Amino acid sequence: MAKLSSKDVLWAGQFSIDEIELILETAKRYEQALTAGETIDDLQGKLLATLFFEPSTRTRLSFEAAMQRLGGSVVTVAEAKSSSAAKGESLHDTIKTVEGYADVIVLRHPQIGSAAEAAASTERPVLNAGDGAGQHPTQSLLDLYTIVKEQGKVDNLTIALAGDLKNGRTVHSLADLLSNYDVNFLFVAPPALRMPGEVVERLRAKGIDVEETDDLSEAVKACDVLYMTRIQRERFEDPSEYDRLKNAYVLTRRMLEPAKDTLTVMHPLPRVNEIATDVDELPGAAYFRQVANGVPVRMALLSLVLQ
Ligand code: NCD
Repeated sequence: MAKLSSKDVLWAGQFSIDEIELILETAKRYEQALTAGETIDDLQGKLLATLFFEPSTRTRLSFEAAMQRLGGSVVTVAEAKSSSAAKGESLHDTIKTVEGYADVIVLRHPQIGSAAEAAASTERPVLNAGDGAGQHPTQSLLDLYTIVKEQGKVDNLTIALAGDLKNGRTVHSLADLLSNYDVNFLFVAPPALRMPGEVVERLRAKGIDVEETDDLSEAVKACDVLYMTRIQRERFEDPSEYDRLKNAYVLTRRMLEPAKDTLTVMHPLPRVNEIATDVDELPGAAYFRQVANGVPVRMALLSLVLQ
C-alpha cells in the first residue's frame, strides 16, 4: 500500500506509480465530495503555513482553499518583502521558526533546490510550490489529473510541451511525472529555450520517446495534448533576449484547424499572449478547468502527508 504520510513533496520524479494513483484517487474522492456540497473535516485542527517568496495567484490560493475545504486553517507569508527574509534571515531559520507554528509547510522560492533545503531543516512535511526554474511537482499532479479527466487515459498519448522549456518548472515536473506512463513527447521550443539536457536524458533512460522541434504548427497536428507555457521573463538576465523571444509562439484558433478534434489545450497560467483569447471557447481549451482541478489535487496531497 502506497503511503505519503509525513513525506515531503520536492520533485515530480519522486513518486512511485502507486503513490501517483493514490493521489489521483484521493483527489477524485474529494472532487466528488466538493461537488456534492459535503462538509469535510479531515484536517480539522491542523494548520498549514504557505510561504511565497515569489509571486503567485493560483498555487497559493488553491493550497489555502484546499486546506480550508478540509476543515484546517492557514497562516501565510504572501510576499518576500513582508517577511524577515527581507532582513537577511536564512531559509533555514525561517523554516525552524515556522515549524513551531504549523503542521505542514508549502514553499515557493526563487532558488533551485530551496524546497529540498527547507525539507532538510524540519521534520514537518514540506511541499515544493515552485523552486525557481527547478520543479513544480504539485502543479504536475493537477496537470496529470486534468489529462486523465479530459482524455480518459494517459498511455499512448502524444503530449506536446511548448514554450519556455528551459526555464519553465511546470514542464520539467510534468515531463518527469508523465515518464511513469507510456507517452510520446514532442518538445516545442526556440533553440535558446530547449528542455534541459538532463531532463531529456532522464526520460530517454526510461525508454520514453522524445522528439524536439521549434515548429509549433507542425506539432499541433500531431499531438493529443498541447501544453503551452509562458516565456519566463523573470529568469532572463538580458531583457533584450526576452524581447526577442517573448512572441516566439502565439497559438491562435486558425493554427488549431488542422489539429485532432479531440485535442486538449492546457496551460498552467498565467497566460501572457501565448494563447489568443479566441482559443478559449473551443471545447478542447481546458486551462480554466485545469486551474479548478488544483483544489481537489492539493486537498489530496495535504491530507495524505498529514495522515
Ligand atoms: C506557473 C509557475 O509559477 O511556475 N504558474 C503556476 O503555478 N500555475 C507557471 C508560470 O508562472 O508561468
